[in-house]
Amino acid sequence: MPIAAFNNVTDGLDPSRRNRGHFIVNTNLDDDGPWVPYAEGVWIQPCCFNATTGGFSVVLKGLPGAKLGVHYHVGIVRGYTMRGHWRYLEHEWTAKPGTFIYEPAGEAHTLVITDDSPEPALILFMVEGGLVYLDKGVNGAFAAFEDGFSALELTRKYYREAGLDVGQLDLLIR
Ligand SMILES: [Fe+2]
Repeated sequence: MPIAAFNNVTDGLDPSRRNRGHFIVNTNLDDDGPWVPYAEGVWIQPCCFNATTGGFSVVLKGLPGAKLGVHYHVGIVRGYTMRGHWRYLEHEWTAKPGTFIYEPAGEAHTLVITDDSPEPALILFMVEGGLVYLDKGVNGAFAAFEDGFSALELTRKYYREAGLDVGQLDLLIR
């Protein structure tokens, strides 16, 4: 049973332009970002698109009460909370500034910024491989897919439409 249509994708770079060296990103955590809209009340700022593993790293910003749909992880995720309070509906703990999280592959969860978060949440997520959004939390079926390639594409699209320098994103591809 097919769950979705997939095609081959690439990072769009000529192999001769593919850089393997180190780089830094100076994210701007202030409101003027640029923040790439991701979901209602949720934005991301890209740090790395990994065309080798299909993963990606982003700073995620979420307003109090905002939510990311339930999703399943194909690979592991590491996260570090810089500001705000957030949790997964499936777990008891609440992450606060300084909280590090390790998410195993195979886990499905629903991210919410708590209503009483004293400020928008800022979380650095380092995602290894794709995630699969589900239509419901228990026995869920495929709803949408995200990986380093789709995150790169949606970020490029936003940069293009916002008149930002899309070429800057190529520097984040490894
Ligand atoms: Fe997750």
